[in-house]
Amino acid sequence: MKKLISGIQPTGRLHLGNYLGAIKNWVDLQDKYDCSFFIADLHSLTIKISPEELAKQSREIAIDLLALGVDPKKSLLFKQSEVTGHTELAWIFNCLVPISELERMTQFKDKSLRQPDNVNAGLLTYPALQAADILLYQAEYVPVGEDQIQHLELSRIIAKKFNNRYKNFFPEVRPVLSPAPRLMSLSDPKKKMSKSLGEASYIAIRDDANTVAKKIKKAVTDKQGVNNLLSLYSYFGDKDKLQTMQADYQAGKLLNVDLKEELTKIILEFLNPVQKRVQELEKNPSKVDKILADGAKKAQKTATKNIEDIKKIIGLK
Ligand code: ADP
Ligand code: TRP
Repeated sequence: MKKLISGIQPTGRLHLGNYLGAIKNWVDLQDKYDCSFFIADLHSLTIKISPEELAKQSREIAIDLLALGVDPKKSLLFKQSEVTGHTELAWIFNCLVPISELERMTQFKDKSLRQPDNVNAGLLTYPALQAADILLYQAEYVPVGEDQIQHLELSRIIAKKFNNRYKNFFPEVRPVLSPAPRLMSLSDPKKKMSKSLGEASYIAIRDDANTVAKKIKKAVTDKQGVNNLLSLYSYFGDKDKLQTMQADYQAGKLLNVDLKEELTKIILEFLNPVQKRVQELEKNPSKVDKILADGAKKAQKTATKNIEDIKKIIGLK
């Protein structure tokens, strides 16, 4: 089976943009690929995050992923920092990647503007660690949202540089996009739904019914906003109802309040069972710990072998 890998930072709460853009694909592709998923806790050190928050959010995100359908019987789930090899390979990649390539990354530029008092070196070399996350396992397929495409292109460049300079060892990295690669914000439909835009922008997997209803009620309903709500509906809702609403919208007959009510209903139908599984897992921390430990142990086996091979290839052994 072909290898597939992806990761997510434990910064903030998981939302529907993350789910529809990336995680749903993780879940759906588990039978077709040899899958590994990880919590990119080392990447999250590039922003200011307290030790308590980091630990709490890493655990919460692991629980959310399991509740959404990441299945430890089919896939590995682990914390990036628990496997040695990611940072080792990242250093090797740092010595291959031109600074100019790192400096032109949109995420680096955005985050540097957003946190001007914390433009740390990790923020710049972030994509070298991301490339290492993938290539350490010689993985080829990477399900992510559209905003990560640039980083994956840089992973390809890094792999090519390594292969040309030393030996053909790394595969070509291929992004896997979902049908919703860029879900837009509820509060500002010109921008992508994101934690960094604030609470009103997104619906979190853990939002309760009241919060979901309130957020949807407040959602912006200019042309782009309504299109965004309709597309959100299309990912969860009934096809016939969607067609009726689209036709009503074209005819100028669709009432925003009706659309919002329908949307709230189907999103809650989706979230209810997920939140029940979250509650069960919250009550069983040792089960979650074991899943993460087993995942790390298995990932470490591949990582150790590949690091050995890489060391030989570049003359460190
Ligand atoms: P955020 O922007 O909320 O901080 P992350 O950067 O942690 O989200 O993204 C985690 C994963 O979810 C990535 O694969 C990313 O591409 C995807 N993703 C994030 N926001 C969206 C969105 N609005 N639409 C589609 N995919 C998204
Ligand atoms: N940069 C990704 C994000 O912000 C998270 C990530 C880290 C990742 N390493 C990765 C995604 C490797 C895919 C593959 O969402």
